[in-house]
Amino acid sequence: MSAPKVFYATTPVYYVNDAPHIGHAYTTTAGDVLTRWHRQRGEKVWFLTGTDEHGSKVERTAIANGVTPAEWCADLVENAWLPVLKTIDAANDDFIRTTSGRHRQGVQRFWTKLKENGFVEAATYEGPYCVDCEEFKLPGDVLTADDGTLLCPIHDRPVEMLKEDNWFFRLSAFQDALLDHYERHPHAVQPQSAYNEVVSFIKGGLSDISMSRSSVSWGVPLPWDSEQVVYVWFDALLNYITAIGYGANTNTPESERFAATWPADVQLVGKDILRFHAVFWPAMLMAAELELPRLVFAHGWLLVGGEKMSKTKLTGIAPSQIIDTFGSDAFRYYFLRAINFGADGSFSWEDMHARYTSELANGLGNLASRATAMVVRYCDAVLPEPGPYANADRALQDAMIAAAEGADAAMVRLDFSAGIAAVRSFVEAVNLYVTEQEPWQLAKDPSQRQRLDTVLYTVCEALRAIAVLYNPVMPKSMSALWGRLGAVPHLGEIGDQDVRHAGQWGQLPPGAVLSRGDALFPRIEAEKSEPAESVPTPTNSGSGGN
Ligand code: MSP
Repeated sequence: MSAPKVFYATTPVYYVNDAPHIGHAYTTTAGDVLTRWHRQRGEKVWFLTGTDEHGSKVERTAIANGVTPAEWCADLVENAWLPVLKTIDAANDDFIRTTSGRHRQGVQRFWTKLKENGFVEAATYEGPYCVDCEEFKLPGDVLTADDGTLLCPIHDRPVEMLKEDNWFFRLSAFQDALLDHYERHPHAVQPQSAYNEVVSFIKGGLSDISMSRSSVSWGVPLPWDSEQVVYVWFDALLNYITAIGYGANTNTPESERFAATWPADVQLVGKDILRFHAVFWPAMLMAAELELPRLVFAHGWLLVGGEKMSKTKLTGIAPSQIIDTFGSDAFRYYFLRAINFGADGSFSWEDMHARYTSELANGLGNLASRATAMVVRYCDAVLPEPGPYANADRALQDAMIAAAEGADAAMVRLDFSAGIAAVRSFVEAVNLYVTEQEPWQLAKDPSQRQRLDTVLYTVCEALRAIAVLYNPVMPKSMSALWGRLGAVPHLGEIGDQDVRHAGQWGQLPPGAVLSRGDALFPRIEAEKSEPAESVPTPTNSGSGGN
């Protein structure tokens, strides 16, 4: 029997024309929470992220900064893009750079195959191009300013008029096959609005499209025409397969990885790059006789002043600006909890501070410290044996089953805010239970000893489930909580706990030794939470960015 397929999730590869902002970190955080969740379902997982390093935008930025594109990319990857993964606590399995040898080899083999299959031919491109999007624009894609200048609607900047003898990908040949695919797989693009947009774009008619550039030199050379490089998007999209071994020699570990991993289960993209991922990319895969991704999910934008946060418009906030104050767990929690995945959302310090304080510091953090403190104080730190359960205890046990089931169902459909809400309501229920049961009163009355033990056991066992279910979202603090519950010697590492079994009562054994610790979510004064001024990103952007 062959091994079960690896759950494979990807983020886009990010342009290295500048340093990351929270819009980029948002995509990676979502992918990280999703893949940690699947790992905790006991699945084999592969989570890929990386950088998109070729093309005019990066080339021009490097030149504007007086360095070669290769030097520019190496510096930014090393000093900005890799560090941000640590900052947000991402546990990616791989990081692909599109300038790497494995990628270049895969790209060349892929396009050679498409040419052999008859899907690449010579033609002339004449029309608008947005360097910030790195996109050949269709007539309906551009705006006309009052003075007649054609503008990119995403970047508000003039497009460039190109006339190039290029190689074209015969995208038009896949119109019917794509429509047929999406009819048969109505959930392959989500949310529904993104699916509708993709289908109507395809129905509007697909034209062949340049797959190479003759006026750009920073890219992967075409194997059959060394004067041209692969158009940056048709190089970058291939990272999803080159990173897992496409183009590697047969019977190597790399080629085996490809067989076990492709197709992708989830490809996360921002809604601005949906067309590339849900029209061009599947057509390319069809042309290469490869399977299509099972799901492309287009999330919304983080907005500033109602507009997409972007480097071009100097509205980018670096993740560290938030994480230095609130920590990576709260960052991960906040963005996935406060914004419905798929919709746009605004970030504000006030909202972040308010939710942090009420839900994390006062809600979960306070519950955890009260519970562990009481076990330490009333039971010499040893988790007591519960006595007979009363109705209130059983109601909490039922709520725990519902929380675990609800969270799992929501997380696997990428409804992160509903997944978090399922656990959050349970935290509230446990807090209410503590308030109503008043264990501090029970402790005063020796005849209530057994009841006190039952209540304390119930609260700690509930915290055990909360820690397991919140671990994919807040791995640092939940692993600290796991330690304080004394769970490791009995149950093993928190990352190995199956989220689907989290609702099963009675896993934390009486006798476990608990401990108190620092606050999981220390209180932050409102005035301290907002930086005095907007912190500039570490590098200079030449030709703008995203
Ligand atoms: N390099 C291309 C992707 C190639 S994938 C084969 C690219 N890079 S990007 O750096 O501009 O953007 C990468 C991702 O970050 C996209 O998913 C984009 O939507 C996301 N975001 C950039 N700004 C964003 C916001 N303000 N809000 C949310 N996500 C945003 O496009």
